[in-house]
Formats: sequence, structure tokens, C-alpha cells
Amino acid sequence: MSHRLGARGLVLGYDEAHPVVDGLDLEIPDGQVTVIVGPNACGKSTTLRALGRLLKPRGGAVLLDGQELARIPTRRIAQAIGLLPQSPVAPEAITVVDLVSRGRQPHQRWWQQWSEADERAVTEAMARTDVTSLADRPVDALSGGQRQRVWIAMALAQDTDLLLLDEPTTFLDIAHQVDVLNLVRRMERTVVTVLHDLNQAARYADFLVAMKDGRIVARGRPEEVVTAGLVHEVFGLEAVVVPDPVTGSPLVVPGAPVPHPKSAPGTARDTAREKATPT
Ligand SMILES: Nc1ncnc2c1ncn2[C@@H]1O[C@H](COP(=O)(O)OP(=O)(O)OP(=O)(O)O)[C@@H](O)[C@H]1O
Ligand SMILES: [Mg+2]
Repeated sequence: MSHRLGARGLVLGYDEAHPVVDGLDLEIPDGQVTVIVGPNACGKSTTLRALGRLLKPRGGAVLLDGQELARIPTRRIAQAIGLLPQSPVAPEAITVVDLVSRGRQPHQRWWQQWSEADERAVTEAMARTDVTSLADRPVDALSGGQRQRVWIAMALAQDTDLLLLDEPTTFLDIAHQVDVLNLVRRMERTVVTVLHDLNQAARYADFLVAMKDGRIVARGRPEEVVTAGLVHEVFGLEAVVVPDPVTGSPLVVPGAPVPHPKSAPGTARDTAREKATPT
């Protein structure tokens, strides 16, 4: 069954006086990839955690199929929504296969602890994230990128209709980043993911949400949203936006780096830099 997720007048915060997110309305498009972008501390993770019911709203509501999340039993939510937080913490000394298997908990019944469907989901999730060969290793003995892929495998094994991913590509080398993003696109599920790389966001998002200071400042298709004006408004960064040579999606090219104080003027690099600097 396909589930619909949204937020209405959402107010989120960690203390009474300072809301981090204030009055956020959002409809997540069904079966598509939604990417949230925005500067550090603007409230992306806070929003995602509220969408996954890890954080209770101070006002407004998160709605799953039109029903307030707060009123839905935890087990039903866990069967519908998978959430990979920004910095998940693994139980000490747990192995890769055991951690990925924990993704199956919402599907288990007391009379049937482990089914063939569980086994299949775990095996498939590990294969798709390229961690099969790490199965028996302790998670805390892995590299940052390996560990990240194990967490993604766990979220995939949960086999939910809705998947919320907070910076899933952090720590990954470029090839594994592309693998994960392609995987996300192929899944034909509703995915909401936070990404910092605007160019990847523009390539992989069906629907892009740009946040600043706890508010949504733009939303829509990447080609509508990603403009030099928006990059300046949201990140305070001068950049040019050109068509991506491979996909045609918007490609953000920041202004040239400042010259090295000891570099001699007039070198080939400096000349190229002068030409490239946006005016
Ligand atoms: N557990 C917490 N307790 C108190 N304040 C918090 C907590 N988590 C986040 N905050 C604050 O809430 C604000 C938004 O944080 P959030 O983690 O949502 O930002 P973000 O957009 O995900 O940033 P980043 O890109 O750095 O991950 C920040 O000012 C942060 O300091
Ligand atoms: Mg965050």
C-alpha cells in the first residue's frame, strides 16, 4: 500500500523559547524523490526527524495518510516509514548482518521470529549497498563509508514505502555516492533525503525543497528552484548556474577560489580565475 506523508503548520524546537522550524507546510510527492537542501543548522535534520516521529511537534502536525502521526501506533509507523538519521549509533560490537537484520523488527511477529521474507530482504539490502562481504565484521571496526552503507542497508531491509534519509552520501567516495543515489531513484518508493551537494540534489531530485532559518524558501522541480539568485539567498554564495553537460539539470559553479597570497600574478591559473570570476 502506498502511504502519503505531509506536514501542516509544523512547529519544532528543542526548547520553548526558540522554535527551530516555525509553521512548515509540506506535501511529500508520492513515489518520487524529494531532496531537502539548506545551510548548516537551518532545520533539515530536525524536520526529517519529526517526519519520522523521532521528534514530537510543538505545534501543527505530521500527517500519514491524513492521520496525525502522534495518533498512529508505533509499529504501524515503523512498517510505513524508514528513517536513517544523520549520525546513527550502532549497539556496541554488533556485526553488520545483525545490524541490517534489525531493520526487519517491525515485520516480525512473536509466533514467527524470522521468515524467508526477512532473510531475502536482508540479503538483498546488503547486496544492493555492496556490504555482503562485510557481513560478519563488527560495525565499529568499519571505515566511515562502509559503516554508512551498512546503515543504508538496514533502512532498505525495513522495506518501507516511505524512506527518510539524512545525508546518506556523507563519507562515501564519489562512485559509492552515485551508486546510492541511483539506488534511491530505482526503488520506486517515496524518498525524502537531505543532501548537501546541490549538484547531486539537482540531478537526483524530482522535487527539491530549499530551507533557510527553519522555513521553506523554495520548492519545485530542480530546474525551477536552483538559480544563482536562490544560491545567493539561501547560502550567501556567489555562483553561476549552467546546464549540467550530462543531464541538463542546473549545475552550480561557485566563484573562483581566492588567489594564494604567494602566487605570482599573471600565471595561467590566475588568468583562468579572472575570466571565471562571476561579475
Ligand atoms: N538535540 C538538540 N538539542 C538542542 N538543539 C538542537 C538539537 N539538535 C539540533 N539542535 C539545534 O537546532 C538547529 C537545527 O539543527 P538541525 O540539526 O535540524 O540542522 P541541519 O539543517 O540538519 O544542519 P546540518 O546541515 O548541519 O546537519 C540548530 O541550531 C541546532 O543547534
Ligand atoms: Mg542535519
